[in-house]
Amino acid sequence: MQRLIIKGEKRLCGEIRVQGAKNSALPLLAGCLLAEGTTRLTRCPELSDVFAACRILSELGCKCSFRDNTAVTDSTGAQGFCITEELMREMRSSIVFLGAVLGRMGRCELSYPGGCELGPRPIDMHITALRQLGVRITEEHGRISCTCPKGIRGAVIDLPFPSVGATENIMLAAACGKGETVIHNAAREPEIKDLAAFLNSCGADIKGAGCSTVVIKGVKKLHGCEYEVMPDRIAAATYMAAAAATGGELGLLGVRCADIQAVTAVFEEMGAAVYCPEDRIFISCSRPLRAVRVIRTMPYPGFPTDAQAVVMAALATSQGSSMMVENIFESRYRHVDELVRMGADIKTSGRTAVIQGVKKLCGANVRAHDLRGGAALVTAALGAEGVTTVGNVQYIDRGYEQIEQVLTSVGADIRRAF
Ligand code: EPZ
Repeated sequence: MQRLIIKGEKRLCGEIRVQGAKNSALPLLAGCLLAEGTTRLTRCPELSDVFAACRILSELGCKCSFRDNTAVTDSTGAQGFCITEELMREMRSSIVFLGAVLGRMGRCELSYPGGCELGPRPIDMHITALRQLGVRITEEHGRISCTCPKGIRGAVIDLPFPSVGATENIMLAAACGKGETVIHNAAREPEIKDLAAFLNSCGADIKGAGCSTVVIKGVKKLHGCEYEVMPDRIAAATYMAAAAATGGELGLLGVRCADIQAVTAVFEEMGAAVYCPEDRIFISCSRPLRAVRVIRTMPYPGFPTDAQAVVMAALATSQGSSMMVENIFESRYRHVDELVRMGADIKTSGRTAVIQGVKKLCGANVRAHDLRGGAALVTAALGAEGVTTVGNVQYIDRGYEQIEQVLTSVGADIRRAF
């Protein structure tokens, strides 16, 4: 098991060029299957989840190569429509291939993604929406078989909740369908806008992405293109939290400030100075940090659930008491017990966590239980007294490109042990 060994209390200082967004790269890679011919995705982060998406594309018959943060796919020979259980289990977001495979092949067979470390992850909204688009779906022994005998047909879909994955699957399935599809109560996350912009660069006709109503006019087919993956707003939030936890000063380059306003507002409330000229964020923090008003995780443009854990790690050593309410996932506080091992005073009850700031955290042996929770442990360790060992690094590697190198470059004392 790989571990990160972190000697804390080093003030972070310097500049970080923020990676491309994992949560955009994955649906974009699924979209490459729809685009006939060659597609180049630049600023594609080199992450285990992204490599898993490339393996799925290869299994479906696409050529997929990866070099210097550029993924090149060629879907010319793609004929496959089955994704094996092994690949489906590698990452939960593989479900986003369902819409793309249906859009290209007219049929798809894959296994149920099941639960994950964040609790149950149902796909009922994906299934209901695809049925409305004319897809026949049967489920047996954990396998899902989908066919659309008359092709994908446009429909008006009202999502009961603005699910990111369901919105992406509908857009992918309907891009080359017949007629017009309208999604009401669509997710408004920046990654949805990025997927629409990518598909439109490939010849699709999608309007309204980033708003609650998205209109997709089906086109005959899509072609390849070159596209740059958007910046990772959660990686940016994580490095802001690391600056806050160490009383540091960081410049984050190549970001979109508007995408993380809900997070920068919280750091400002903690007492950090945040300055956002163009595509940069400068954050300067002096200790101690202040406690903040209640943070409720919400769909975009609310406070993102993916930033809950790293912000909690920074708040663990603030002055006063703060409260968080996790509204998106049922089981997203598994980092709390580990932070408590480091001396944090955090109590949870259901969806609520109360963080009573302490003066200092102390190094300890802790384990990541999920991606963002793992990043929170690294954040806490950077500010803690003594040495912390973070186990289960494979979770962190799913979403952060070379985390130890990035943090070392701004003054952290962190190394990987094998
Ligand atoms: C995406 O997951 C992200 N993953 C998540 O990031 C992120 O936390 C989440 O959106 C919310 O912003 C990717 O983009 C790959 P949802 P997704 O469908 O699409 C329930 C990270 O750390 N739901 O908006 O799965 C669901 O259980 C990851 O980078 C249903 O009940 O999120 C959850 O409670 C983790 N039925 C809520 O909706 C459905 O059919 C939000 O899920 C679909 C979802």
